[in-house]
Amino acid sequence: MKNIDLSIRARSALPGGVSHELRYRDPHPVFIDRAQGAEKWDVEGRRYIDFKMGSASQILGHGHPAIVDAIRKQAERAIFAADCHVSEAEWAEWVNRLYPSAERTRFTASGSEATMLALRLGRAFSGKDHVLRVDGHYHGWHDHVLKGAKPGHEKPSSLGIPEALTDLIHVCAADPQAMECALQDTRIGTVIIEASGANYGCVPMATDTLNALHDVARAAGVVLIFDEIITGFRWSAGGRQARDGIVPDLTALAKVVTGGLPGGAVCGRADIMEMMNNATMRDGIAPAVSHKGTFNASPLVAAAACAAMPLLATGEPQEHANAMATRMLDGMNAAFTDQGIPGVAYGDSSIFHVFFGRDTVDGLTPAEIRGLPKPCVKAYRDGMLARGVDMMAYTSGLTSAAHTPALVDEALDVFRATLADMARNGVLP
Ligand SMILES: Cc1ncc(COP(=O)(O)O)c(C=O)c1O
Repeated sequence: MKNIDLSIRARSALPGGVSHELRYRDPHPVFIDRAQGAEKWDVEGRRYIDFKMGSASQILGHGHPAIVDAIRKQAERAIFAADCHVSEAEWAEWVNRLYPSAERTRFTASGSEATMLALRLGRAFSGKDHVLRVDGHYHGWHDHVLKGAKPGHEKPSSLGIPEALTDLIHVCAADPQAMECALQDTRIGTVIIEASGANYGCVPMATDTLNALHDVARAAGVVLIFDEIITGFRWSAGGRQARDGIVPDLTALAKVVTGGLPGGAVCGRADIMEMMNNATMRDGIAPAVSHKGTFNASPLVAAAACAAMPLLATGEPQEHANAMATRMLDGMNAAFTDQGIPGVAYGDSSIFHVFFGRDTVDGLTPAEIRGLPKPCVKAYRDGMLARGVDMMAYTSGLTSAAHTPALVDEALDVFRATLADMARNGVLP
């Protein structure tokens, strides 16, 4: 089987041959057959060191035995009966224990569903339809969060979003004064922020800034939502909020919270979350906030999550992943210096980003940080992939508990060779 043949076949069955627009690749993507630890193999038998790690979901490494075993045992007992079951309560107890904002947790079937539900709760609790979001922060693909998703662009990043809905979404810079100014509009009742800064910290947000944004939202009395879909269980077992002691009202989680299976969660203050309790009623509607979803907390996912929780709670997987990301960052920055090429690798926790053409991203706008020329980004990702290293979208990457110093050093050799190629081919800015 060849990647190219599979791609031709897929393109006549799936729009663009993919199920997620970021999986599209020109001339064709690679089709992954098997993944283990921090490596994966395509259908042609080519091996890759993985810095995408299931779009940031597999911090324990691909195929962790505790997760595989939990799924297998649960599949033998019951795959899905759409009933209440023991592991969903156990799973919620873990989240409530680890997340400072969490008094109650409700599970969803994806991260986008988690931010959608958090916004519904914010609007219901505040009684206000208008929402403030931060320029360039990513919160999923649903109608409420695409305006402002592309930094510097007021228009939603998709056709098909109703204008009436778009008018309810306000966008401000990741700056406390800008947020304070935007919150003068008393129609706004909810604020949502990506806890790392835009795109898992590609546009970094300093702890002081996040703290100040939190204080501004608090002073305005709005419902504050942190999107910790990537930072959750990664920046610490209790996400950025536990690591840095900045506590929102509601938190959206996904990816690692499920043990790496499909799903998500919203956790937060009991008085807000309890609006989903069937015992509550508002205007004759019970529960006051409606939330359904066939596969929420499905037993297979809950079993994987409950197996992952004790491992994640130790902080050891995160500590190891952080050390591997630091090794990667140091090696990449040394490569820029040694090869005399302007550029910088930066990041936080177990996430790293690369910017070409300058030795710092300080002072750049989000649009500038995300605005590297397309041929440059493509040459970087294609060059790394052709040599057996798969990166996340744009120029980012993530490490896991399964990355080893040897794998990182091998990837750094590839980085140096790719950088040299990019310089030779004149694609660097
Ligand atoms: C910060 C953030 N929020 C929300 C989402 C949406 O999650 P999902 O893709 O599970 O819908 C993502 C996905 O990458 C994300 O990174």
